[in-house]
Amino acid sequence: MKHPSSTAQLITAPPPPAVPFFDSTAQTSELMAEIQHAMERVIRSQRFILGEEVAAFEREIAAYLGVEHAIGVSSGTDALTIALSALSIGEGDEVITTPYTFFATTGAILRVGAKPVFVDIEPDSFNLNAELVAQAVTPRTRAILPVHLFGQMADMRALRAIATDHGLALIEDAAQALGALQQGTRAGALGDIGCFSFFPTKNLGAFGDGGLVTTNDDRLAELSRSLRSHGFSAKHLSQRLGGNYRLDALQAAILRVKLPYLEGFNARRRRNARHYSEVAGPSLSLPRELPGRTHVYNQFVVRSRERDALAAHLLACGVRTEHYYPIPIHLQPACARFGYLVGSLPEAESAARQALALPIFPELEDWMLNAVVEALRSFDPKHT
Ligand SMILES: Cc1ncc(COP(=O)(O)O)c(C=O)c1O
Repeated sequence: MKHPSSTAQLITAPPPPAVPFFDSTAQTSELMAEIQHAMERVIRSQRFILGEEVAAFEREIAAYLGVEHAIGVSSGTDALTIALSALSIGEGDEVITTPYTFFATTGAILRVGAKPVFVDIEPDSFNLNAELVAQAVTPRTRAILPVHLFGQMADMRALRAIATDHGLALIEDAAQALGALQQGTRAGALGDIGCFSFFPTKNLGAFGDGGLVTTNDDRLAELSRSLRSHGFSAKHLSQRLGGNYRLDALQAAILRVKLPYLEGFNARRRRNARHYSEVAGPSLSLPRELPGRTHVYNQFVVRSRERDALAAHLLACGVRTEHYYPIPIHLQPACARFGYLVGSLPEAESAARQALALPIFPELEDWMLNAVVEALRSFDPKHT
């Protein structure tokens, strides 16, 4: 007779394989030989700080984006700080921005001593509502800082018109939108200055932190280069307060390997998004791609009134999800002194309650996509 525990083992079905929210193992394995070769090149050169590797990456990504200047920096957060500093934005200035984003956008505004002024978002794109921006302009406003959230660009045409009317700078937080287009122009090429992140989960991910500043303005480019290295204008000559905001040569070498594949990665993100597009229903709304824009789906974010029950159901089916972003920025403790109350920016607050990000990374396999679709289909909000 068998021991009872071994019988139990025989009849217990194995759990279904889990679908990760993000996994870059397959991408790294595919590119491993090229990456090793590129890293070896840097190690042999012993030029770890700036140098030809960073300069070559800057030329290559500037050509891809269609901008005059690309400046490799240490992170997306630092790119934002440099952009604001290059525009001399600081104490006493106001910057109009979105309350529904990663904290870094507002963090950079606070870091330079300026005041963030939050304007509510459009419910379907999650981006800054350009129609409300003009009403928020005051004599102290210096810039508009939209975020191209989740990989779709904010309405840059409308925002440019407001910026021009009021003499304001337009800064793009394009951290999540490398490769996105609006009327044929790439994110990072439509503002006065653009900011990108190469955080590992971004569409072009480094093996650590990294970022980029882009501009078509020679003076802003020169200032950004100076700010990323202690405000130097020449060796040991600091013209202004900068910092150590340099992109590592090893990260630049890795990014140079990946950049030629970016269009392919983005096409696969879009393919995955199309795969999900059939499962919308009364209890679930899908992200909307607006006319004239190409979404690059850094995140695929659905909305549901039963968001927490849906997330729990997906997890029970083995599908990992994330909440972007659970607390809008105007309600963060770090912004308490600006006096925003619950209910003051209702669309951002509703998105924070309803948004749920599904796995969308390029290397998702068909069985994973099908498992997500199955799990979404089997969700019954009445049985929660
Ligand atoms: C919209 C947005 N802005 C800024 C950042 C900051 O980038 P980093 O993490 O490279 O500092 C991020 C990164 O998550 C982001 O998503």
